[in-house]
Amino acid sequence: MATSKRTTVPAIRDHCLAVPGSSSAGSSSAAQPLVMVTAYDAPGARIADEAGVDMILVGDSLAMVVLGYEDTLQVTVADIAHHTAAVARARPSALIVADLPWMSYHISVEETVRNAAELIRAGAQSVKLEGGRKRLPMIEALISAEIPVMGHLGLTPQSLHAMGGYKVQARKSEAALELLADAKALQHAGCFSIVLEGVPDEVARMVTESLDIPTIGIGAGRQCDGQVLVFHDLLGLEDRVPAKFVRKYASLKSDAVVAVRQFAEDVRSGCFPDDSESYHLSEQQAEALSLYGSQPS
Ligand code: KIV
Repeated sequence: MATSKRTTVPAIRDHCLAVPGSSSAGSSSAAQPLVMVTAYDAPGARIADEAGVDMILVGDSLAMVVLGYEDTLQVTVADIAHHTAAVARARPSALIVADLPWMSYHISVEETVRNAAELIRAGAQSVKLEGGRKRLPMIEALISAEIPVMGHLGLTPQSLHAMGGYKVQARKSEAALELLADAKALQHAGCFSIVLEGVPDEVARMVTESLDIPTIGIGAGRQCDGQVLVFHDLLGLEDRVPAKFVRKYASLKSDAVVAVRQFAEDVRSGCFPDDSESYHLSEQQAEALSLYGSQPS
């Protein structure tokens, strides 16, 4: 669905209505699945946008993949705003979604709206937050302040300690039904889309088929209305063994090491820079300079 025009929140929200009677990416008559990728800076946003993605997520994965923290709990609203502004400066046609970091929407409705507004002013068109029914007062306040909200259910990395690790969620039928109730409540509150992370394929399908708004999966099988991956994971910008659900489309870390090693070798052997990579004086200026006793080479 990517075009040169700016993708809007209503276009994403109404994605499932694009083909009447369809809300499942698994169905042959379904609209084309939505594509979201994370980006944290202007070059990343340009790459994602030229590749034709529908949405760019300035995720709190920023903490781990860019800022070198152990988990996502360390990033602040200021960090996300700084990187959202960089993404926005690339002027992508993809919709920009910015993550509300941990503790930016947990304390009060007022703080939630103020923090989300900072991300919108930085250039996001919408915000994403984690959690189900217990987040409803915050979600409702954001929506009534005209700030579009994407939900995030299942494995919610900001609940790392409460979950006891990064574990697939909703493996039992009771938990799956709780997740479905959360998803319906988020839709009813006005969320335009919901990320489903780390849940069994069957659960993602049940939720997807029960909603009119699109689900975007990560580690949630192929039945969602769209998929999201982390930029650095899909490009292989790190050596670490990726999670089961990551498909690596390139190995840019090893390509980058080869390139930088070659640069180091060229500097040390004296073959960088060469003549064509250097600036030169005109003959007249070189001659004038040599009159002062210095002989440019
Ligand atoms: O922060 C992030 O990258 C995310 C995606 C994994 C959905 O929330």
